[in-house]
Amino acid sequence: MKYFIKDTQASKTELEQLIKLAIDIKQNTPKYSQALKGKSVVTLFEKPSLRTHVSFDIGIAKLGGHSLYIGQQNGQLGKRERVKDVAKNLACWADAIVARVFDHQVLQEMAQHASIPVVNALCDKYHPCQALADFQSLTETFGTVENLNLAYVGDGNNVSNSLMLMGSILGANVTVITPQGHGPGSEFIEQADKLATASGAKFKVSDNIDDIGEQQAIYTDTWISMGDNTKVEDILNKFMPFQVNDALMTKTGASAVMHCQPAHLEQEITTALFDSEKSLAFVQAENRMWAQNAVLVTLLQD
Ligand code: NVA
Repeated sequence: MKYFIKDTQASKTELEQLIKLAIDIKQNTPKYSQALKGKSVVTLFEKPSLRTHVSFDIGIAKLGGHSLYIGQQNGQLGKRERVKDVAKNLACWADAIVARVFDHQVLQEMAQHASIPVVNALCDKYHPCQALADFQSLTETFGTVENLNLAYVGDGNNVSNSLMLMGSILGANVTVITPQGHGPGSEFIEQADKLATASGAKFKVSDNIDDIGEQQAIYTDTWISMGDNTKVEDILNKFMPFQVNDALMTKTGASAVMHCQPAHLEQEITTALFDSEKSLAFVQAENRMWAQNAVLVTLLQD
């Protein structure tokens, strides 16, 4: 593995190895205390972040490495100087680049021109570090993700794209339910279909909440992602039937609910459910750090 900028770059075996390594780093942290010794990682953010920024920073420190945060003080990427030149400059000093960007194309350009690994910390299309932490969390909770029934309910976005792609590679049965007109793009559906066929998993997309069927875990995310200027009052009526709440958990038989956070309580998820024992939200948040550490250790030892 040279990059981690989209879910489909890793094979089933590579993803399973990353999850296994993430769990080992979590359980035996002292063993890895020097795993990133002498490594400097630039973390570059075009959008706000709490979990991603802190989990990379503290995670890298736990493994003996050094991280440097770059916010938007230099203005939008590609404006002051070419993305290509930013990438080539950073590669003069750093050992890896972690970047949260508006446009996936920017990550591709960075990966093409930087001679060091590039990691996607969220873009318009994918959020692979989140998905890896999510499948780590599901592995810990259910023992395996193969044949696990996982439904994503809400807005079709970067998080649902990564979940359905990574889930289909890993052999999880992913169902994506969104309001009409808010589903995943056709290219992602086609990819997930092929990946699910290859792994023997089932993959389904629908705009009818009654198609949800039996599930073990239900996942949701904000109805309006960063960079989308839609007003919540304009979509509320359309999205409310897709709220993840106790009634949906009972209807599907799901024992776990997941959210990448930040949560918009009483919109995509009820406060009671988010705060309940069924919620894996803070397990997922913690696992961001271990999963990302597994990615960095793997990329920097290759
Ligand atoms: N879909 C959300 C994820 C936030 C972690 C967004 O892009 O804003």
